[in-house]
This record gives sequence, structure tokens and C-alpha cells, in this order.
Amino acid sequence: MHENSSSFSGQMGFVLAAAGSAVGVGNLWRFPYLTAKDGGGLFLLIYLILVMTFGYVLLSSDLAIGRRTQKNSIRAYQSMDSRCWFLGILTFLVPVLIMTYYAVIGGWILKYAVAFLTGQGGAAAADAYFVSFITNPWDAGFYAVLFMLLTAIIVYRGVEKGIEKCSRVMMPILLVAILLIAGYSLSLSYTDADGVTRTGIQGLGIYMMPDFANLTMGKFLQILLDAMSQIFFSLSVSMGIMITYGCYVRKDVNLNQSVSQICLFDTFVGLLAGMMIIPSIFVFSGMEGMAAGPKLMFVSLPKVFASMGAVGPFIGMGFFVMAGFAALTSCISVLEAITANCMEIFRARRETVTRVLGIVYTIISVVIALGYSVFYVEVALPNGATGQLLDIMDYISNSCMMPVISLCSAILIGWIVKPDWVIQEMERDGSVMPRKWLYRFIIRYVAPFVMLILCLQAFGILL
Ligand code: PFF
Repeated sequence: MHENSSSFSGQMGFVLAAAGSAVGVGNLWRFPYLTAKDGGGLFLLIYLILVMTFGYVLLSSDLAIGRRTQKNSIRAYQSMDSRCWFLGILTFLVPVLIMTYYAVIGGWILKYAVAFLTGQGGAAAADAYFVSFITNPWDAGFYAVLFMLLTAIIVYRGVEKGIEKCSRVMMPILLVAILLIAGYSLSLSYTDADGVTRTGIQGLGIYMMPDFANLTMGKFLQILLDAMSQIFFSLSVSMGIMITYGCYVRKDVNLNQSVSQICLFDTFVGLLAGMMIIPSIFVFSGMEGMAAGPKLMFVSLPKVFASMGAVGPFIGMGFFVMAGFAALTSCISVLEAITANCMEIFRARRETVTRVLGIVYTIISVVIALGYSVFYVEVALPNGATGQLLDIMDYISNSCMMPVISLCSAILIGWIVKPDWVIQEMERDGSVMPRKWLYRFIIRYVAPFVMLILCLQAFGILL
């Protein structure tokens, strides 16, 4: 915080910066694959309810804590109550874990951008392309290193601003591209070898219509945990990032409006990405394709582009380049958060910290990228999935640590400093916090209870 005491130029600047951190592979890659894995409409319904309740509460809390304490997460919690020093350390560890695999996914996107740029978009549409890429240690390792180094160099040289400017142009174009591709996905129709015809509109039905048949308590909890972990990841909440952003927000900015705008925008991008990917995977691979997991986006989209004819390779190229930018801005914000905290903890210079972090994370990214070849493991996760190294890191950070952090911070805000501590900050610019009663109710009663259930579920204690 000492080095960078500048603040956002205004509400718009702040919302755009926060949205740049929030919108990334979480929206394009994680949201669609979780929705498909958890059966479409039901996940979507639960997700939307959770964003409007927990998403809004968690984001408001993080931003208010940052603006009110003017401290990074490590010190902020401690200054609210000295017994809560451990919360700062936990929140710091989340980006530390996320960073171990974020560049790997960024590398996957980079690989597809290069494939389309070099005219191999057709080959990328083959079923085996993705698996043969990630199981090839040289190829997978190379792209992870490339993406990681790109991020580290940008943070090292402090040129994030340039990238942000670029992404302000790229983001709206990406949105329009997603919208068009989603529209095209809905118009798809395909008859498979068994003579079964599936359409994009049928796929949309699976995406949008909740199916309550065969819903058990165990399955419901599983969906709840997946949806909640997605909210944490996608909104970048409960990981210190938004606390740091809160420090930079001017006192006269209307935080309530900003929270709504960030939540809306982030959810909208995820929803559209789902509309682009889920109907198309249904059309080309049927219901079996829905359980594809992390490879979903990479398997379905090249097929969509291939079916577009002559313009397909160009649209594919544009899409993956822009998606790469969205991943880069988020990856920068993860590394930036770790860097800022390390500078404070070790009282070190930015250059030294980024150099060390760049080397350490390049090595770790290679290890995670090789988790599908040299370091292959199969671990049954409590959410019903079988995971490799990348999924394990994702599960520990988003499904285990974040509910613990949210449980503790809900107790801290709801019962120790009291909800009005946050509400006062939310109203500092003179605006009135809408749904105050909902905030109080959720932070005091609902959040501790739900987070406790999720913690037990995440650790496999509750079925
Ligand atoms: N919210 C980002 C996404 O949806 O891709 C991911 C992210 C950004 C996670 C920043 C963590 C972080 F610190």
C-alpha cells in the first residue's frame, strides 16, 4: 500500500479495474464447465440466487473493509480485531494457491490462439486434440511457462496500465464476439452416427431449465458448494483482492452502485459464455459431453468454429486472442496481489519480489501443467469429481479455504464489529445502502450457517 498510494480516478475507473480482475477464465472456462457438470439449469438457478445474496454481501464487505481500514488484507483483519490476524494470512494464501494453476489455463488459451493463428483451427476441432496437447509434457509446459513469464514481465515492468488500456478495447469486442458465437451456437443442429439429431435450442433448454428430478440432499449440497466456490473465484472475493481494491477507492464513490455493477457484469459474462459453450457441447457430444470437466471449453468451441465454414478460423483466432487478454488481466491481478503483500511482509523492493515470484511460479506452473503427464495423479474429490494436480489446487483454494475465510469473516463482521461497521462505510458518500436488512440478516445468520455446512461438505465430513 505504501508504494502505490494512488486511487482510482472515479467510479467508472474503479468499476472497470475491478471488472478486469473479476472477468477472466472463471467466467469463460470455469463457469460453463461447472454448470454442465452439475446438470445445467439447476446449477444456474442456485448460482443466480447466490450471487444476488452472498455475492453482493461478500463483495460489499471486502470493498468496505478495504476502504475503511485503508490496509491490505493481511493487516486489515487484524486492525478490526486483533484475534483475527490469521484471517489475513488465510486470505493471502488463496491467490498464492490460485496462481499455481491460473497461468496453466492461460497457457491452454494461448495454445489455441496460436493454433488458430497458424491455420490449425481445423485440427483443434478433433476430439483428441486437447488431451494430446495437455498430455504432451513439452507442449503443455512450454505454454504454461510462456503465459507465466508474460504475466511476470508485465508486473515486473509495472506496465499493467498499458495492458488495462488494451483490455478496455478488447473486453467489449470479446463480449460482442461471445454474444455472436452464442447466437450461432443456438442455431446449430447435428445428426450423429446413430441418426439422433440434436439442436442448439434443445441445448439451451438444458442450460436454462432447472431439473429437480432425482435431486438428493447430497447432490444439492454438491451443487451449492460448486456454485459458491464459483462465486468466490469469479468475483475475486474472500481472497484479499477486493480489499486491496477497496483501499484505492475514493471516499466519494458510490460503493453500492459499484457492487451491483460488478456483480451484474461478471454474471452476465459468465451467463453468455455458458450460452456459447453448453448448447454446442450438447449438439456435438450429447449428454455424455456435459461431464467433460475442465476441458469443456477447449473441446466444444473449436467444433463450433469448424462448423462456421470459411470465417470460422478467423473468428476462432479472434476469440482465443481476446480470451487470452481477459486471462492475462486477471492473472496480472493475482500476481499483483501476491507481490503487494510480499513487499509488505518481507519489506522488499518490487523488482526483487517479482523476480523471485516469477521464478518460483514458473517452476510451479510447469509442475501443475505436467499433472496430466509426468505427474499424473487421480484423486477423488469430495465434490464427486476426480482431480489431477490442477483440480486439487482449485479445490483446496476455492472449495475449502474460501468457505473457511467467509465463515470467519461473517462472524467477525456479524458478531464482533457488527454489520453497521460495513454499512456506515457503504453509505459514506451520502448514498443509502439498499437492502440493508438483507445484508444484516445474511452476514449474521445465513452466512455463518451456510459456510459452516459448506466447510463440512468441502472437507468430506458431510455427504
Ligand atoms: N476472478 C477471476 C476470474 O474469474 O477468472 C480470477 C481471479 C482473479 C482469481 C484474481 C483470483 C484473483 F486474485
